Amino acid sequence: MSPVASVPAHAPASLHIRDVTLQRGANTIFSGLTLDLTDSRIGLIGDNGAGKSSLFRMLCGLDVPQRGSVQVRGLEARTVSRQRPGLVGMMFQNPDEQIIFPTVAEELALGLSPSGMPRSQAIAQARAFLASRGMAAWSDRAIGSLSQGQRQHVCWLALMIASPELLLLDEPFASLDQPGQALLGLDIARASQQVIVSTHLLEHVRPFARVIWLDQGRVRADGPGEQVCAAYQADVAARIAAQALSYA
Ligand SMILES: Nc1ncnc2c1ncn2[C@@H]1O[C@H](COP(=O)(O)OP(=O)(O)O)[C@@H](O)[C@H]1O
Ligand SMILES: [Mg+2]
Repeated sequence: MSPVASVPAHAPASLHIRDVTLQRGANTIFSGLTLDLTDSRIGLIGDNGAGKSSLFRMLCGLDVPQRGSVQVRGLEARTVSRQRPGLVGMMFQNPDEQIIFPTVAEELALGLSPSGMPRSQAIAQARAFLASRGMAAWSDRAIGSLSQGQRQHVCWLALMIASPELLLLDEPFASLDQPGQALLGLDIARASQQVIVSTHLLEHVRPFARVIWLDQGRVRADGPGEQVCAAYQADVAARIAAQALSYA
């Protein structure tokens, strides 16, 4: 069983999406989407293009809907990064969208800047954090010399050290090796914050009390992880079977 099964008590961030329409370029991603996201652990599943990353981008204010409202703890999502920089943290699907600095310690130190900590102190704290995880040798490694999975690991560490109140993790397991996935699963289980995680690796969210299946921008199912993951897998199996027949 995945380590995320044992979830401690958390303070949910109270996220409310009301009648949202989101367009990106010529594409209408959401039309009349309404969701209350108040559970401490929420899984987000669905095919490529279903809208998982778009939902995260709206929740952290990167994409602003044309209609409706997205509220995080009573604030409009688009104002959160200005008004409460420590409230929402996002781990991007593509590490290169998240990473700014050339070395691991510098990147991790960035997460401490909203607290007003002097840079030299932030870098020292980042080094100490890496050492506490048995990763002291990573401090001065050039980001450019890391593999995709290692960069994804750095993105998670950067989010951990920044410690926002709400963690949005967009396919965080995608490039991680087996030990990396297990460790991330443990970190998520232990996190004191609300966590929303999208993934195609269903074993990581199956134990969650709530999983949402997005299908072409709509909520296809919303409920206990076991049930929603089973429904999605059955749908995938049926679609593959139909496609195999059409090839025959
Ligand atoms: N920058 C963009 N401009 C226009 N359409 C986009 C853009 N990014 C994603 N989309 C479209 O939005 C839809 C949802 O994409 P996305 O949120 O990335 O899905 P997922 O994360 O579930 O794979 C897809 O149809 C995709 O083609
Ligand atoms: Mg995505």
